[in-house]
Amino acid sequence: MMQFPEDFLWGAATSAHQVEGNNTNNDWWEWEQRRTGAEPSGGACRHYEYYPGDFDLARSLAHTAHRFSLEWSRIEPREGEFDEAALAHYHDVICALRARGIEPVVTLHHFTNPLWFTRRGGWLSAGAPFFFARYAAKAARAFSGDVRYWITINEPNVYAYYAYSVGTWPPHVSSLPAARVVLRNFIRSHLRAYEAIRRIYREGGRAPARVSIAQNIQIFQPCKDSPVNRLAVFVRNRVFNLSFISALARRRALDFIGINYYSRSLVDARGWRMRNLLFDGCRDNCSRLKKNSLGWDIYPEGMYYALKMVSKFGLPVFILENGICADDDGVRWEFIRDHLHQVRRAMSAGVKVMGYIYWSLMDNFEWDKGFVPRFGLIRVDYATMERVVRESARKLAQVCARGRLE
Ligand code: FCB
Repeated sequence: MMQFPEDFLWGAATSAHQVEGNNTNNDWWEWEQRRTGAEPSGGACRHYEYYPGDFDLARSLAHTAHRFSLEWSRIEPREGEFDEAALAHYHDVICALRARGIEPVVTLHHFTNPLWFTRRGGWLSAGAPFFFARYAAKAARAFSGDVRYWITINEPNVYAYYAYSVGTWPPHVSSLPAARVVLRNFIRSHLRAYEAIRRIYREGGRAPARVSIAQNIQIFQPCKDSPVNRLAVFVRNRVFNLSFISALARRRALDFIGINYYSRSLVDARGWRMRNLLFDGCRDNCSRLKKNSLGWDIYPEGMYYALKMVSKFGLPVFILENGICADDDGVRWEFIRDHLHQVRRAMSAGVKVMGYIYWSLMDNFEWDKGFVPRFGLIRVDYATMERVVRESARKLAQVCARGRLE
């Protein structure tokens, strides 16, 4: 039996574009209308309307925290113009969580950008930190009375990789120097937003806000042991997993460390150039591990390694995403159970973990993969919008309610 602390936060996450529906004013929507292949997000889960019922379900599952994101393109539909109705909507969302005894964990940026921001050069533009911090300050002022936990940017490393290095996500840039500029702008954006949020709480005489990012951690392992693969693992840990947190921790601009952990990745560098060291993966199907429905390795021990890896910064760690897309819900429960074991193992080894947030509360729009992967604790029937609680969700609910993993 494994006991978790009394104040451990339990819950699930979503992001605006993946669940709300009709986010017509951002860069993803714009691209979805042009691309062929996967379905567009359309009405998604219509969570923008259905959130009260969705939160009733979260409460029935004994969740004590919920992570979601604000849609910047709704709050600031035109440059410098803030939409009071959108702010009022998110205020209602936050109050709906509070009314159910659920702690809101609010993300400011989760992969989507207002169209006006994209036209101004997006994350490549030197103006990005100013725009982002202005939006962050607006949100902090609006919600400081009801929100304690803020996440500025979701997975800056993943976003820079897909949107600016390999270019599969909008704005489809494929350039390492560009990705570097974007990461630098993310760091500046976080620093300015961090400062603004903390100041607004201070000036309002409120208990300090607790602000972080959601850092995606991949466990890198060599396909076969060789000097170049060892170097590649080292470089990837530095660049992908740790550089962003290091930069912010050094400047004391993180109140805790938020991590998203899903999988491991096998490294097989076919040369000594930076591109090889950073990107070459296994091509021979070396992995013997079970996979999720997108083919990602299921590697629970990685959760332990991820927690140990970031514990060196001396800050508490909050697991902000961990989850699986699976057609067999039994596999989902095994995934959750095995990962929670590793969380407990890391805690026994001295890592201070604040909470565990599963991705996702419900099935949703999985970016370039569309609606096929099903990550939800709750099944969504997209034809009727009916929600059905999965068995894995009930099993996790017992853990949340008892604070104990049998
Ligand atoms: C993470 C994203 C989240 C979701 C999961 C499956 O990288 O933050 O939006 O797509 O992966």
